[in-house]
Amino acid sequence: MRSYRCSCLVMCLILPLFAQGAEMAKESPKLKDERMQWWLDARFGMFIHWGTYSLAARHEWVKNYERTPTDVYRKYFEHFDPDLYDPHEWARAAKGAGMRYFVITTKHHEGFCLWDSKFTDYKVTNTPYGKDLIKPMVEAFRAEGLRVGFYYSLLDWHHPDYTVDKCHPMRDNKEEREKNKNRDMKRYVDYVENQLRELLTQFGPIDCLFADFSFPGDDGKGRKDWQSERLLKVVRELQPNCLINDRLDLLDRPDGWDFRTPEQFMPRSWVSMDGVRVPWETCQTFSGSWGYHRDEATWKSPQQLIVMLIETVSKGGNLLLNVGPTARGTFDERALECLGFMGDWMWLHGRSIYGCTAAPDEFKKPDNCLLTYNPKTRRLYVHVLVWPMGKLHFDGIADKVAYAQLLNDASEVKFSRSEGGAWMSGQGGQNAVTFDLPVRQPNTVVPVIELFLK
Ligand code: GLC
Repeated sequence: MRSYRCSCLVMCLILPLFAQGAEMAKESPKLKDERMQWWLDARFGMFIHWGTYSLAARHEWVKNYERTPTDVYRKYFEHFDPDLYDPHEWARAAKGAGMRYFVITTKHHEGFCLWDSKFTDYKVTNTPYGKDLIKPMVEAFRAEGLRVGFYYSLLDWHHPDYTVDKCHPMRDNKEEREKNKNRDMKRYVDYVENQLRELLTQFGPIDCLFADFSFPGDDGKGRKDWQSERLLKVVRELQPNCLINDRLDLLDRPDGWDFRTPEQFMPRSWVSMDGVRVPWETCQTFSGSWGYHRDEATWKSPQQLIVMLIETVSKGGNLLLNVGPTARGTFDERALECLGFMGDWMWLHGRSIYGCTAAPDEFKKPDNCLLTYNPKTRRLYVHVLVWPMGKLHFDGIADKVAYAQLLNDASEVKFSRSEGGAWMSGQGGQNAVTFDLPVRQPNTVVPVIELFLK
């Protein structure tokens, strides 16, 4: 009896502790969905890469690529003075493009901090500009109704305790390698934790955190070096609703990440892990560089960008599209032009993006088309990438469509059952529909047919 009571007591004391730990690790898929709902609905966000590399204007990795010693690199810090910075203009540009959240590099790999951190002198308030950049930015974007995300670089090519590794600008410098002996990554992680605490307590609700990045293994850094679990705990504690990306090297922990982040490429299909579809966000640039790059010329066309957004959503993902502002504090005029194009398209077609996802598997996309689907309104969107000549055939939906219209002007699209195939094609579609389209493409880059399902 006594031992029974005793074990009951132990259980009562210990179980809640276990439960607490397990709770963090075991958020139900339903709760996770709820936490992520705004993000899943938003589908389109703006990445902003801004730092002292914007003065060099030749990639945010310039310090690394050119193996620039810290004292030489300092010239950018000494000349950082974005006199034309107006975050309201940025926020309007993002909103105008149809974006619903933004993610700003509070600190990139160069180590420069865009807010007035107590834990370093290497920050904007010590540059000629002299003022915090983050608070006004957060306020301006919030005022336009956008959610707020912070990017924070785990790498730091400026901090004295950060050891030289294979990704470091000084990787080939023997003397600097030697100095690793006196560098203390534990002190560096204290610094990271302190800074995360600042970022997560001084700027109101932070909707997502983009930690960047892990490169475990030989001469690299991963979860042990960053003490990722410790950092994760801080984020979850301070901002329980904040979404966290997947670059802390904690993929094996269910609560170690909220979404995957394929970078600069389009996944072939919905990103999955062990056969299970997971939330994902692809981050993309207009050209090859994240930071402002004056001479980079491989800019994607507005049409490519719009198709990229549609294709992302058609595979169940989000698009985080990057702008690298200039050192004057303005958006690159090429970026503004592209954002304008996207905004024009989104103004008419946002309904086929927001709240949408991949179409259920039973719908197979017609030739030259991409499909998205809104599960709440049960509308299916056919994005027509190459405008056909008068007719569009869609197999397998004849018993499912109640009404069809062009999304850009809500003009009816007539359709008929076309079982047996198009005239002379010899191949009959099953349960097929043929839509009658105007010969001339509607005046928009990618027209969309909106299908109301039965
Ligand atoms: C990479 C790059 C970095 C960029 C990031 C965006 O990790 O190091 O420059 O900020 O991707 O996802």
